Amino acid sequence: MAKILLLDDELTMVQMVSEFLRADGHEVMPFTSFNPAMEALESAAPDLVITDLYLDKTRAHGLEVLQKARAQNPPPTVIVITAFGSIDTAVEAMKSGAYDYLEKPLKLDGLKFCVQRALSYNDAVSENIYLRKQLKKKYQFNQIIGTSSKMQEVFKMIERVADSDSTILVLGESGTGKELVAKALHYNSRRQFAPFVPINCSALPENLLESELFGHRKGAFTGAITDKKGLFQEADGGTIFLDEIGTMPPVLQSRLLRVLQEREVRRVGDNTAVSVNVRVVAATNESLEKRIKEGTFREDLFYRLNVIPITLPPLRERVDDIPLLVSHFMRDKINPRTGSRYQITRQAMELLSAHYWPGNVRELENAIERAVTLCEESTLHVSDLPPVLQNLAATASSDTVIETREGTPPQSMMVLSDSLYPLRFTEIQQESPETKPAQGEKPVAALKDFLRLQEQGYLNRALAQTGGDKDKAAEVLGISLATLYRKLSEVEET
Ligand SMILES: Nc1ncnc2c1ncn2[C@@H]1O[C@H](COP(=O)(O)OP(=O)(O)OP(=O)(O)O)[C@@H](O)[C@H]1O
Ligand SMILES: [Mg+2]
Repeated sequence: MAKILLLDDELTMVQMVSEFLRADGHEVMPFTSFNPAMEALESAAPDLVITDLYLDKTRAHGLEVLQKARAQNPPPTVIVITAFGSIDTAVEAMKSGAYDYLEKPLKLDGLKFCVQRALSYNDAVSENIYLRKQLKKKYQFNQIIGTSSKMQEVFKMIERVADSDSTILVLGESGTGKELVAKALHYNSRRQFAPFVPINCSALPENLLESELFGHRKGAFTGAITDKKGLFQEADGGTIFLDEIGTMPPVLQSRLLRVLQEREVRRVGDNTAVSVNVRVVAATNESLEKRIKEGTFREDLFYRLNVIPITLPPLRERVDDIPLLVSHFMRDKINPRTGSRYQITRQAMELLSAHYWPGNVRELENAIERAVTLCEESTLHVSDLPPVLQNLAATASSDTVIETREGTPPQSMMVLSDSLYPLRFTEIQQESPETKPAQGEKPVAALKDFLRLQEQGYLNRALAQTGGDKDKAAEVLGISLATLYRKLSEVEET
């Protein structure tokens, strides 16, 4: 069970307690003098120390034991034994970090209960340390995938600013990893042991968001039946993550500005302010400059938030990262039926690299999750990818002439493959007719055809957004109307 160090100057007591604890299955190291006990504390790493507070009347040995115990890594839990009625010294010991105290004469029932509680406390503490370590590992930089130069810049920035208290504004389209970055900032700062508190500013109506963020006093409004701490206070010592900051109602923007300036919050219905020590990380997937122009976002708040901006590139601008991300999302997945790890065919990977990814890394993660569920024999094929990607393959192949000989991959594809994916990605397999019957699976097209398809999708999206207005669409796309017409006719021709 547990390793227990026992120290008391009364030999009979030490013998009795040792016997009792051993009968309960513990390993006991009994001592009646101070120095050998201290050596064992260091060398034998006990889980629990039970020590008399006074070995003689002149010196509080128990407090020295406590001090030494706390300096160990991991520190054992300490229970002190005090003389009957010396509650003051017991309190002192508890203040110095003792877990509990037992009064002499010892009652064996009480001892047993106290030891049990101390050991389960021990387990909880080590579990907590373990969980925190896991959490930290999860948000280490190596869990944010990206070798592209744009992502490398992001990593450098996170490293430089994580441990500062500056406000950070994380920018990027939906699914690019903004929350991941916010967490990496928190878990790589000295605030990591305090809470990380995320709140999505678009998820609540104005008055609820206000009391959520800043708290309220009982009776401040109908329904405020008790006092409530706001999230700023909950995050004290840690980080608050204000997601979708662009949607924050103007009244709350003013309040937030004051919190950022004065570092104190006032609850709704309260006149006194409470100071808070919170690091603010905000994120948005829309242009705040545009909101400022529209008059829905305060310019002064923008400057306060934009002290250090970190911009996450959309996935389509860092295509080189796609194989790594795919590998990352497949890495720990084992097929329960075959017991083997998943692989992906080259064609499927090429298709993944050619997609426009409007939902960015989240969309890719979901696509891999889906493919892993659907695939056979632990290999992800084109037919396991989401329909939108398969359509891309189908359309591309229908308007492209590729010379295909039975059993060998088309030349154009090989060139494309090799230039895009040097074989550092070990989990890619060549998809050949033998690996899977090509049921309804069309060969992958040349790069220019993929690009044209992407362009077509983009033009269609622009047209859909502008309600079919070609003038507006051309303006949004930053091309002339003539170019837009030309591109549309190209698409129609194919
Ligand atoms: N670089 C990356 N490496 C590994 N996983 C990533 C990366 N970027 C994003 N992800 C994963 O993609 C998913 C979406 O990321 P996240 O929630 O951080 O995006 P977001 O930018 O906050 O999106 P939204 O704007 O929609 O809230 C998460 O599951 C995240 O773990
Ligand atoms: Mg998010």
